[in-house]
Amino acid sequence: MKNTLIVPQKLPRHVAIIMDGNGRWAKAHRLGRIAGHRAGVKSIRMVVKTAREVGVKFLTLFAFSTENKKRPKREVEALFALLKQFLIKERKELIKNNVRLKVIGDIEWFPESVQKEIKKTVDATERGSAGVHIAGVHGLTLILALNYGGRQDIVQACQRITKDIQRLEITPSEIDEKAFASYLYTKDLPDPDLLIRTSNEYRISNFLLWQLSYAEIWITPVLWPDFSKSVFLEALISYQNRKRRFGMVKNA
Ligand code: IPE
Ligand code: IPE
Ligand code: MG
Repeated sequence: MKNTLIVPQKLPRHVAIIMDGNGRWAKAHRLGRIAGHRAGVKSIRMVVKTAREVGVKFLTLFAFSTENKKRPKREVEALFALLKQFLIKERKELIKNNVRLKVIGDIEWFPESVQKEIKKTVDATERGSAGVHIAGVHGLTLILALNYGGRQDIVQACQRITKDIQRLEITPSEIDEKAFASYLYTKDLPDPDLLIRTSNEYRISNFLLWQLSYAEIWITPVLWPDFSKSVFLEALISYQNRKRRFGMVKNA
């Protein structure tokens, strides 16, 4: 029988979301694209709060892809400004709720002032509400994918592995899947169990290519600014009713 309620033991440990459809939402409301991004921030707050409340441990949000850099300068700058605002506004709330912020992607490319706010929030949330570094105090780890590309992630891992081989810190035969994964931006994070994409697009768009190998995929026509708590719960419940086989035969 299919469950229609959240079962805590069956929750995905790691949920990854491709937040898409801000531009189309804005167009439908006769607004500019930037207003769509602004409206999308509200959905970010909702997913963070809901993930925390139901007990999801890791939430990765695709906020800016390596390809998004090719968008008009005005739009890119507006996204920087929204990110900065989000970090400043939410910092206290994240700390209070024991949410740890992590970033994956190449943020060196971001303006200094945005990098500063990112580092400040990552550092402050690492310490948690007690203000000291204690392992395991965090309920939720929120991972923002910023200037992130799945291919770029794999390339940067290869570059660093090659350097470590040159320095004789690792030998080629020691490179197995586990060792390779430890060079990716997502080192120390479990692979996503559930991938959500909004706005009815059926593609990965260069998100976590390596890490999504066995993720369950859930796609909704809902545009990101309209993504509500009930739609999020629907995705989690759908996941709980899936049968994951990882290439094996059940009860063999
Ligand atoms: C997603 O919305 C937000 C980002 C990629 C930053 P889009 O801006 O891609 O919205 P659509 O796809 O044009 O509707
Ligand atoms: C993916 O959405 C990137 C983010 C959500 C940040 P895009 O809107 O950039 O992807 P495409 O262009 O539809 O594939
Ligand atoms: Mg899009």
